[in-house]
Amino acid sequence: MSRVVFVNGEYLPYEKSKIHIEDRGYQFADGVYEVFAVIDSKLADYDAHMSRLLRSLSELNMKLPYSRKSIFFHISNIVKQNLISNGLVYLQISRGVASRDFKFPNNTKGSLVIIGKNMPSDEYINTFHKGIKVSTTRDLRWKRVDIKSLNLLAPVLAKQAAYEKNCEESWLIDDDNFITEGSSSNAWIYQNGILITRPVSNSILNGITRSTLIRGLKKRKIKYKEAKFNLEDVKKSSEAFITSATQHVMPVVKVNNIKIGKGVPGPRALDFRAAYMESLKLTEL
Ligand code: PDD
Repeated sequence: MSRVVFVNGEYLPYEKSKIHIEDRGYQFADGVYEVFAVIDSKLADYDAHMSRLLRSLSELNMKLPYSRKSIFFHISNIVKQNLISNGLVYLQISRGVASRDFKFPNNTKGSLVIIGKNMPSDEYINTFHKGIKVSTTRDLRWKRVDIKSLNLLAPVLAKQAAYEKNCEESWLIDDDNFITEGSSSNAWIYQNGILITRPVSNSILNGITRSTLIRGLKKRKIKYKEAKFNLEDVKKSSEAFITSATQHVMPVVKVNNIKIGKGVPGPRALDFRAAYMESLKLTEL
């Protein structure tokens, strides 16, 4: 079966999908996106992702180019037509097509793209049992990374640098030597019975998985703290994690040369993952 994508009102075969060369997403990274997890053919935390999308749009003076109802309809079609049981939906909105000019164009309709991808759950489970390795790099991103914008060159370079060091993720270090977050995930450490993640601000993306995990921790009465942490704190940690729509809760077993715990996922990893899974809101399609 061939993949089908949604591009500006049309359902097209993946290979034939096209965007105009003067799309502002392409020329200026002038747009926003969301990644929704699909779990058992349902959308994870759909409303929370849509609220963050609306916030990102509003911070950039943009509007939804289609009604919320039709966006849900198209997402649902993409999941169904591509037979996605576990995986993700990538949704991107740019400011639209206009002759190249830095200032906003008048009255252009935003471009909407929706892509679905299957990600077999056994691959995730295998990685979960091994854990992932992280390397660190300076956080070179702009100062509004709370907006989920298409401006992703710094994370691209960070992830590539991690990959070249045989690591799966990069943790970004701010000017005061604190870890902000991962290149495409939030960062967590577990120290003396407390799970720690950086507080929400303009310096991190307010992860939906992060919020859902926090809800789960509260329900299970697991201690957590929102606080900045650095590599010295990482050294004192018995476990570490990343969270994101695609990685859910994923154990980290090494940060640079620092072995976390015994260098394998620790005893609390399953609890934290369960806390996330049981607090998810799944939307039927
Ligand atoms: N990334 N921080 C950054 C910088 C991210 O790019 C992401 C998500 C997160 C986690 O957010 P959430 O839990 O809502 O997925 C944190 C997505 C998955 C991506 O760009 O592919």
